[in-house]
Amino acid sequence: VAYRLAEQTHEIAKILSKFRMTTEQLLEVKNRMRTEMQKGLSKSTQDVAVVRMLPTYVRSTPDGTENGDFLALDLGGTNFRVLLVKIRSGKKSVEMHNKIYAIPLEVMQGTGEELFDHIVHCISDFLDYMGMKTACLPLGFTFSFPCQQTGLDAGILLTWTKGFKATGCESEDIVGLLRDAIKRTEEFELDVVAIVNDTVGTMMTCAYEEPTCEIGLIAGTGSNACYMEEMRNIEMVHGDQGRMCVNMEWGAFGDNGCLDDFRTDYDHAVDDLSLNVGKQRYEKMISGMYLGEIVRNILIDMTKRGFLFRGQISETLKTRGIFETKFLSQIESDRLALLQVRSILQHLGLDSTCDDSIIVKEVCGAVSRRGAQLCGAGVAAVVDKIRENRGLDHLKVTVGVDGTLYKLHPHFSRIMKQTVRDLAPKCCVTFLLSEDGSGKGAALITAVACRLRKEVI
Ligand code: BG6
Ligand code: GLC
Repeated sequence: VAYRLAEQTHEIAKILSKFRMTTEQLLEVKNRMRTEMQKGLSKSTQDVAVVRMLPTYVRSTPDGTENGDFLALDLGGTNFRVLLVKIRSGKKSVEMHNKIYAIPLEVMQGTGEELFDHIVHCISDFLDYMGMKTACLPLGFTFSFPCQQTGLDAGILLTWTKGFKATGCESEDIVGLLRDAIKRTEEFELDVVAIVNDTVGTMMTCAYEEPTCEIGLIAGTGSNACYMEEMRNIEMVHGDQGRMCVNMEWGAFGDNGCLDDFRTDYDHAVDDLSLNVGKQRYEKMISGMYLGEIVRNILIDMTKRGFLFRGQISETLKTRGIFETKFLSQIESDRLALLQVRSILQHLGLDSTCDDSIIVKEVCGAVSRRGAQLCGAGVAAVVDKIRENRGLDHLKVTVGVDGTLYKLHPHFSRIMKQTVRDLAPKCCVTFLLSEDGSGKGAALITAVACRLRKEVI
């Protein structure tokens, strides 16, 4: 028995060691991210680039002069929200009202028309609720998916990511789909002014409080970053003056195979079972929608090999998506006694022994640590790029961050920050948690666009 136990411990350690990353390996990831960023920015390599580096047409961060009442939509994260944002320049104050609406799975994965009709139905309900049906407000749309923009109010959906797969939307202008759905209801009018990625909304939300914020980061259901890039480096957009925010869409990093030497069999299993096989490989190693799935696949393997749950694979363990970010976060919380870990597993329908719960906690730790380190390697690449753009020996910069993983997980943010410090020693990086979500940022962008429109007229 003692011999078997020792062998089992050894085998478990072997599995978990696949998730350990050395500093050299992480530096390699950082360097490869830099290479892929360059490919996305350059005209000659743009068509083969997997990290798309999409121009956003946002050319500056807020300066406090933004003013007015705006509607905002926030689609693509855990919650779908409709918001009313009142921005007052004099007092530099922002008042927000919002309502969260559910998007049923069959709507997320039904037809585009159903999805946009549902969105418009929610807006209609919100306007009724606020008593503002006749106001015709300007609207900023946080749409957290990769869009090829040709201006602030035009964005073609390149591909769905995360849990969405509504038909008839890919390769279409999302603003057009929203406007069409508003027309179909004949209930109210809105002026759709801007489509904004959640990273960009988050950067703007944070930059309103902290002007050194020039990067937006999401560690949530999905993962992505944006930052202020020099116009001269964005070869796909005319003009060399000033800066523009670039939505990196870094989740697709690795889709050309460049991370394959770090991906394990479990990463492949997660990918194979996903809605978008072969795509968003980096995102599938670092974000909330997938970390739990990696854990589940390891647990299945360990159970098959008799190391866990008395060798019995339950129906629950076969169920996709059981380990949501909030459960991973609870399991890894240091304040929880093992008995409580057992009760969480019990709650998930997994009947565990005390030894099982120790192993499950170790598995969660190994997977989330690697995720945080890989994410940190990405941030390190971005801050060093900004530093080099500006010809500086040392850069001080703030990253605006949002996302359930960053907010709820007990270790993710700390490990990610430590990795950035290790891999980008010439940068002093402060992380600022976005308190108000990206809807506020979308409203600030809308405010600037409305002002510029008036000035041109
Ligand atoms: C929120 C934004 O603050 O963060 C969302 O407003 C965004 O649009 C989200 O997608 C990311 O977090 P999560 O964990 O909900 O995906
Ligand atoms: C996915 C989306 C991206 C978004 C990120 C975080 O990676 O493609 O646009 O920013 O999730 O929500």
